[in-house]
Amino acid sequence: MKGVVLAGGTGSRLFPLTKITNKHLLPIYDKPMIYYPIQTLVDAGIKDILIVTGGKNAGDFLRLLANGKEFGVVHLNYTYQEGEGGIADALELAEHFADGEKVCVILGDNIIERGIRHAVDEFRAQPAGAKILLKKVDDAGRFGVAEIRDGRIVSIEEKPVHPKSNLAVTGIYMYDPTVFGKIHHLVPSGRGELEITDVNNAYIREGTMSYAFLEGWWTDAGTFDSLRRATNLVAESRVREDAGVGVSC
Ligand code: DAU
Repeated sequence: MKGVVLAGGTGSRLFPLTKITNKHLLPIYDKPMIYYPIQTLVDAGIKDILIVTGGKNAGDFLRLLANGKEFGVVHLNYTYQEGEGGIADALELAEHFADGEKVCVILGDNIIERGIRHAVDEFRAQPAGAKILLKKVDDAGRFGVAEIRDGRIVSIEEKPVHPKSNLAVTGIYMYDPTVFGKIHHLVPSGRGELEITDVNNAYIREGTMSYAFLEGWWTDAGTFDSLRRATNLVAESRVREDAGVGVSC
């Protein structure tokens, strides 16, 4: 399975922090944000990775990450998203890289406490379709929200005003190669973006979407509050690790 880290977009919710740099280069405790999703993929055994970025600071990713040797990746690849047409628009750029293989996609601002290896291994064994990772949250209206009936996901709503559950769809998605055909058929949402939630709903309609619950804490880092939360959570985990209390990636 190949890995894709999506690190495009303007990061407008973090202005002026993102006026002269890309959101994913901002610090989370002692590392740039992009380090965390890359490490999540590497820890799950995925070592052929594509970074999708955009904007005026795309070259800084190459200067920062170079050939990925620091992470022990086999190949670190880069591509460039023009504009900010949405998460699915960014993922579409990975079609050539995927080359008919399954992909594990992670949003560049998603940071987790534990690993995803178990879910990745389950998806390796899944013959076709997609798999998403869910997490119970208090503020579901900020995310894609999954509705589950009789153990199956029946729908996902993007940032609903009245969430049907407290189950956020985290920014970690696993897809078979049909994902790109599904993206080709998408139309932009009301906010002018190709939505990853529409991709996921296409798999749900097809009956091929599985899910698992993410263990440990999870946060995004795209707002001032979540950026601070991410830094605090990473710092607290590091203190526990240093004290020898079991936290693993
Ligand atoms: O964090 C999980 C949530 O991420 C999901 O629950 C939502 O369903 C999903 O839509 C997304 O919501 P956000 O509003 O938080 O997404 P945001 O626009 O902040 O983009 C998240 C990442 O996706 C961002 O860090 C980089 C990448 N991205 C985003 C856009 C809009 C791109 O690479 N290109 C883009 O055009």
